[in-house]
Amino acid sequence: MKKFDKYPYYENSVQTPEDHVTIFDRVFREIRGRDAISLKEDFCGTFLISCEWVKSDPKRVSYGIDLDPEPLAYGRAHAYKRLKASEKKRVKIFKQNVNTPLQKKVDVIGAGNFSFFIFKEREALLQYFKAALKSMNREGVLVLEMAGGPGFIQPGREQRTYTLKGFGKYTYYWDQKSFDPITHYGTYAIHFRDPRGKFHKDVFTYDWRVWSLPELKQMMLDAGFKDTAVYWEGTGKDGEGTGEYLKTESGDNSFSWIAFMVGIK
Ligand SMILES: C[S@@+](CC[C@H](N)C(=O)[O-])C[C@H]1O[C@@H](n2cnc3c(N)ncnc32)[C@H](O)[C@@H]1O
Repeated sequence: MKKFDKYPYYENSVQTPEDHVTIFDRVFREIRGRDAISLKEDFCGTFLISCEWVKSDPKRVSYGIDLDPEPLAYGRAHAYKRLKASEKKRVKIFKQNVNTPLQKKVDVIGAGNFSFFIFKEREALLQYFKAALKSMNREGVLVLEMAGGPGFIQPGREQRTYTLKGFGKYTYYWDQKSFDPITHYGTYAIHFRDPRGKFHKDVFTYDWRVWSLPELKQMMLDAGFKDTAVYWEGTGKDGEGTGEYLKTESGDNSFSWIAFMVGIK
């Protein structure tokens, strides 16, 4: 029987690369007053954002970084394959640690879906921030997507139904398995029920440190960033998030939130 291919399910349920391009673009333009040209996508997985980045402007270049050859191979066979020849030339993929500096210095380093929570200790995260500074040009910014609020640490499972073209309807489960208030270590998982009804448990698992925004601010400054900023999601009249992120000094106390922590070189 054909092996369950987890990446199309992951991309379809979790990722909206256009939104990441919009936020990376906006943050850089507001801070530097010009368009960002180069992006280093850390923890890129199937590097959807890198592919979207080069589509957004004919001058743009992207570098996707991930340690795991499996999602990189999936990305090459799918999102990358769909690019035009002129776009393909502007995407470069590196199977390496995010802490290994690139020869090219970039405008933006971006990381989606809280991936940097993998660095569980202060020293490890500081090392990542210092490495990021080395891979940026003088105007570089680091943009990290993060999550928090009581709704992100309480145990529980959330599920949603999606349709995947060519596969059918399936269920996505986000499982918040554990959280320790003393260490802020948390374990999370993604499961799927495929269109045939088969349950796939722990397809993706995460062993994270849930960092807070003030901790990140202090550590970015300690690592050598000149300044930091937080982009917080706007709230509509219905109380729901608008999907638009704005630079803010003080956030509303949402039950569950996503924000972008920005380090400015
Ligand atoms: C949560 S996935 C993120 C996928 C995608 N970027 C997203 O936003 O949905 C985390 C990825 O980080 C990669 N990774 C973990 N530690 C890494 C490291 N030190 N250097 C490079 N990649 C790493 C894993 O292989 C995995 O593909």
